[in-house]
Amino acid sequence: MTKLTRRHFLQLAGAGTATAVLAACQPRTQLIPTLTPGSTAVSPTAAPTAVSGNIPADTEILLRAIKDQVNIFPDTAANVWRIQGELLQGNANALQTLPDTYLGPILRGHKGQKMRIRFENELDEESIIHWHGLDVPADMDGHPQYAVATGQSYQYEFELRNRAGTYWYHPHPHGRTGPQVYAGMAGFFIVSDDEEQALELPGGEYDVPLVLQDRRFNNGQLVYMEGGMDQMTGFLGDTLLVNGQPDFTLPVASRAYRLRLLNGSNSRIYKLGWEDGAPFTVIGTDGGLLEKPVERPYLTLAPAERLEIWVDFSDRPVGSELNLVSLPFNSGSFNSPQFPVLTVRVAREAGDNATLPERLSDPGFFSPADAERSREVNLQMSMGRGWTLNGRTFEMTAVAASERVPAGSLEIWEFVNGGGGMGMGGGMMSLPHPMHMHGESFKVIERQISRSGQAAWNTLSEGFVDEGWKDTVLVMPGERVKVLRRFSGDFPGLFLYHCHNLEHEDMGMMRNLEIA
Ligand code: C2O
Ligand code: CU
Ligand code: CU
Repeated sequence: MTKLTRRHFLQLAGAGTATAVLAACQPRTQLIPTLTPGSTAVSPTAAPTAVSGNIPADTEILLRAIKDQVNIFPDTAANVWRIQGELLQGNANALQTLPDTYLGPILRGHKGQKMRIRFENELDEESIIHWHGLDVPADMDGHPQYAVATGQSYQYEFELRNRAGTYWYHPHPHGRTGPQVYAGMAGFFIVSDDEEQALELPGGEYDVPLVLQDRRFNNGQLVYMEGGMDQMTGFLGDTLLVNGQPDFTLPVASRAYRLRLLNGSNSRIYKLGWEDGAPFTVIGTDGGLLEKPVERPYLTLAPAERLEIWVDFSDRPVGSELNLVSLPFNSGSFNSPQFPVLTVRVAREAGDNATLPERLSDPGFFSPADAERSREVNLQMSMGRGWTLNGRTFEMTAVAASERVPAGSLEIWEFVNGGGGMGMGGGMMSLPHPMHMHGESFKVIERQISRSGQAAWNTLSEGFVDEGWKDTVLVMPGERVKVLRRFSGDFPGLFLYHCHNLEHEDMGMMRNLEIA
């Protein structure tokens, strides 16, 4: 079983600095509320298989947030909240239901296609769905001000304007995003376009979306937030699930695959490595395909980030196994030990193979020299208020003067992680923050690390992939990260930027920006 004790997962690095914080955190147990049984649970199987193909316009989908039960472990029906999908109109490939998991269906669309999605909330609390990474109008983006109550629905209509890539969807009600995602509400949203299709990358069953999520269990039931500490650091589980399943094995044919990795965890960062030390060939980031493939010794995957990799298993004999692990690293106040992620088993010979294209896409980046202005966002712990952005926490519709962006401008936003924050008990806490912006993607153009942050940074930095379009970027303690983004103004209004450590987001490490 892919399980470690909490002791293993939560090794304190600078014991002196973190002890004061730990002491200040009141122990508290809060189980996910007991839920009424829904449909009958079924037994676990392997990875979801992918379907590819063109989808005609006017796809109409119904997504319902429901309470349900799923066998995450055999013999125990776990209470979950999940998103159930139904295709009302359009090509059958637009919605792929995954058996034996709490995950929502995989939605697929082609650039230019118009989507109509009706979200119905059957939970006992308010919710709303956000399309992470998609460039949609402000009122279609799942802003918490549009959260709908029990029994109510929200109608989305938008055109897919994004580049081909691996996007995803999850709830976004203020203060409850962490618990709702944790209880099971999340799914992939995969976009294709003509440029990508011309490449003939591995498709169908050779194109595999994989979401990594850590959870805690008590008698087979999900447990969230065992202590006040979880809010300040972010929740860390002791059991790793891939596509909602423990001990995940991916059976493959001996040929090339396209693996789409999503970190769907509330706060855990992964440093992914093949156990035999083989390097990774990265072909895509949050916002789609890179200009050309790049190599990395390991992959750093922060919450909400996606990486697409090209893996060729053709040299591996049938019957052989390869383990993907998370390698040890230090993220400031914490050490993450090595733990297993998944096993690939070469199950059969492949009749064919694919060739990795030398050139993948035309990313169309902007030039930093054309930036019209720069803004700084300080990621700070403020005494008594928790994590803040420039000293502010979330206000539903408020925007500070420094958060107003003139439509059409090209801007540099610099995220500054001071590296230390006052913990609740007066102790210093150094934490990384995965910073996310809604709306159009950005490009990471510069990173600077302080001397005090260097040692921890060195344990993860070779796994950053800044060559592509991003919507989430990890900002390590002591680090300043500059991103370049165009705010086209096609969609004016309020959009969010926030830390995607969901416990930080829920405590208010989130703000509006207004495009006007
Ligand atoms: Cu993944 Cu504000 O979102
Ligand atoms: Cu988002
Ligand atoms: Cu954070």
